[in-house]
Amino acid sequence: MGGTFQIDEAQFIKQAKQFQLPNQTIAVVKNNAYNYGLEFAVKAFAISGIRAFATTSMDDAVKIRQMCGEHADIILMNPTADFKRARMFNLHITLPSAAYYDTYKHELAGLNLHIEYAGLFNRSGLTDISELEYILNDMKQLDLDLSFTGLWTHFGYADEFDGIYEEESALWQQFVKDVKALGVSPAMIHAQNSASYVRDGLFDDHSHVRLGIGLYGSKPFNHLDDKDFIQPSVLSAPIIQFRDLKEGMALGYGAAFKAYADCRVAIVDIGYGDGVLRARAGYECEIGGQTYPIVALMMSHMAVLVDDDVTADMDVYLYNSRLRIDKFTELGVGANSEQLGALNYQSLGREFIYDV
Ligand SMILES: Cc1ncc(COP(=O)(O)O)c(C=O)c1O
Repeated sequence: MGGTFQIDEAQFIKQAKQFQLPNQTIAVVKNNAYNYGLEFAVKAFAISGIRAFATTSMDDAVKIRQMCGEHADIILMNPTADFKRARMFNLHITLPSAAYYDTYKHELAGLNLHIEYAGLFNRSGLTDISELEYILNDMKQLDLDLSFTGLWTHFGYADEFDGIYEEESALWQQFVKDVKALGVSPAMIHAQNSASYVRDGLFDDHSHVRLGIGLYGSKPFNHLDDKDFIQPSVLSAPIIQFRDLKEGMALGYGAAFKAYADCRVAIVDIGYGDGVLRARAGYECEIGGQTYPIVALMMSHMAVLVDDDVTADMDVYLYNSRLRIDKFTELGVGANSEQLGALNYQSLGREFIYDV
């Protein structure tokens, strides 16, 4: 089966409540809600009080509308030409460039448009204010009336401390001023991810923060207190069998592990095909409250060097309240979202714990 990703709903909601900025939070639920499960996460975020969501997938945006009813703001961050569904489900869509405007300007009337600024991250968005000037002039000439409901960007450097984030956010704040100077006053102005929000709180003139990882209980920075970030998930897998190795015997592809003395290895039912990052396997796992080294990672299996305290009925933990995702981020395994995003939603079992 490939292990089980277990999620505690009460902890998930508690974390969403303690991290969100009340009434001013857009929850980022892209990539299957960081692999916590779109439906589960949207419902839990709604219970926590969140009424605005952002995703990159039109299908997911439609599902969110169907789940939340009419009283939610749903922002599709990827550019779309599916205006039929954008209208039908009252989605907010992004305006990513003057070229997009030129292509679709006659189809955008009545839609909630969020002007996107590229900034230093530069994945998508207007490069500078002249692009918006061009759009506004063209609208005037053609007598087009478009609804600029939102203004947004994404920070790519909010977790860096060498001055580049300050430069990035200053460019953005200037862009916001320039947009307003052109007479455009969007109701929703949102830029800040978890790291930026933790550093700066909500920027002046902004209506929302747009949060992902902090809502899901992982720390954007190491120095923050664990108790302010409740990790609501546990990843575990069962032991399939034990191998008793004699000194000098090898195990795994390319003799990944070589026994330096007689020893016992547990073969565990989880591997990189289930989403365990190779770098994560460079660190320990937990069995019966003790830590043990992972000695080989294969596609569907993992080998752990154990002792006689370990029995076949014990679960092997890769993530839990002691083995925090953000601890492994600190150790260099990969970003929090990388560790979560790698999990294989198809092969892992999923268990939700609900308070009854
Ligand atoms: C456009 C956009 N906004 C917000 C976020 C949320 O970022 P974080 O998970 O760091 O809070 C992401 C995440 O990658 C994103 O791509």
